Amino acid sequence: MIDLQLTDKTHDEERQGEALVIDAPLVRNGRKLYIESYGCQMNFADSEIVASILLDQGFETTGDYKEADVVFINTCSIRENAEQRVRNRLSQFGAEKRRNPKLIVGVLGCMAERLKSKFLEEEKLVDVVVGPDAYRELPQLLSEVESGHKAINVLLSREETYADISPVRLNGNGITAFISIMRGCDNMCSFCVVPFTRGRERSRDPYSILAEAQDLFDRGYKEVTLLGQNVDSYKWKGADAEETAETEVNFAQLLEKVALISPDLRIRFSTSHPKDITDEVLYAIAKYDNICNYIHLPVQSGSTRVLELMNRTYTREWYINRVDAIRRIIPGCAISSDIIAGFCTETEEEHQETLSIMDYVGYDFAFTFSYSERPGTLAARKYADDIPEEVKKRRLAEILLKQQQTSLFRLQQFVGKTVRILVEGTSKKSDKDFCGRNDQNAMVVFPASEGVKAGQYVNVHVDRCTSATLLGTVV
Ligand code: 5AD
Ligand code: SF4
Repeated sequence: MIDLQLTDKTHDEERQGEALVIDAPLVRNGRKLYIESYGCQMNFADSEIVASILLDQGFETTGDYKEADVVFINTCSIRENAEQRVRNRLSQFGAEKRRNPKLIVGVLGCMAERLKSKFLEEEKLVDVVVGPDAYRELPQLLSEVESGHKAINVLLSREETYADISPVRLNGNGITAFISIMRGCDNMCSFCVVPFTRGRERSRDPYSILAEAQDLFDRGYKEVTLLGQNVDSYKWKGADAEETAETEVNFAQLLEKVALISPDLRIRFSTSHPKDITDEVLYAIAKYDNICNYIHLPVQSGSTRVLELMNRTYTREWYINRVDAIRRIIPGCAISSDIIAGFCTETEEEHQETLSIMDYVGYDFAFTFSYSERPGTLAARKYADDIPEEVKKRRLAEILLKQQQTSLFRLQQFVGKTVRILVEGTSKKSDKDFCGRNDQNAMVVFPASEGVKAGQYVNVHVDRCTSATLLGTVV
């Protein structure tokens, strides 16, 4: 094992670059790859596939794009500001390319897929454009660039799951890792560009998922997060491990299989869809202590009319019913959400319905966005983006304020109690403090004490909290 510097950073909400640990490739070619990721966790997981493919070719990774031979930017199209951030970053890479004309600059991911060859026309300093299903072609595409051509592959696939590629863990703490269990999305929410950029939904074979989880556990990892755009519609049909019989595996069954690897391996998952989350999944979570009591269940809006325009295929009542089922089957389960303010035609009353469903659920956490029209989506084609920017902003501020109050209230429930956490490492703010998450995904910070190491489960007494963090001491 070797230690390397950070290679990917910035994430909409959560992840920042940190030191990474990777397995050394067999033969080096003396060339260095710098990869930077934007957007969702799936994109970060994809960068680990990309790194794996290029490390197999003998590349090394670097945390400094100025010393790289190849710079990749794995992009997000979900909102306009995500794309803007990528463009700004590309102009920095462009400046570097002017200084070092041999540098290869590649655009991967959702923006590559959305803009296709337009990207090469718009951004003259980009050499290669590769969509999310074409990463296996990267070595050939890089050869094309080396022979003096621009290269592009944005073909989407109905089968590709990269099941056989073992991701190189970038940015890792060596304790927690993501595992992609499916790709694409068949939901067609009217606001969302993902079905166009990531293609049709397909599930990865469960044996490769289990092998990856087992391998991580054997290497000292203690938590895996199973990733998919809509994990509840995970469905795999195929031969069993011995290839003797046909089997079918749904998400609840997959969760159970991963949970059985070891009681010391924690399981998380994201994202759940309110229309698809079944009681069977909830019972699986309740049955196994190591499946975390935390569900990310985006509501998007509290108004049935707006939900219909969004093509979410559930009503306010249906969503509330699912939340009631979670509360009944998994008491104490944390729930988080994604919420969009100011979707097309949203009235003031409908905005109030979003605030009231937030009150009903009492989310532990929420990602909140103001609606951003994306070219080509159903909403862009059918509805006018008619809510003025300042109204969107004000509604978003009201949603944010409510969430801050609710998050604080939720975290206060833990004050005075002892929580079991998985130590992830030193805290971002001070290396005298450790941090880790409890079962409900709340971040807990506590003074480092002797004998406590990353990867251990420890009990922490919670002394106080902010609206984002629990603060305590090891007991
Ligand atoms: N505008 C604003 N927010 C969006 N999201 C997806 N598309 C858009 C859009 N066009 C949000 C949704 C989704 C999360 C990942 O991003 O809330 O759940
Ligand atoms: Fe991820 Fe969606 Fe952004 Fe693509 S558009 S990177 S799927 S959040």
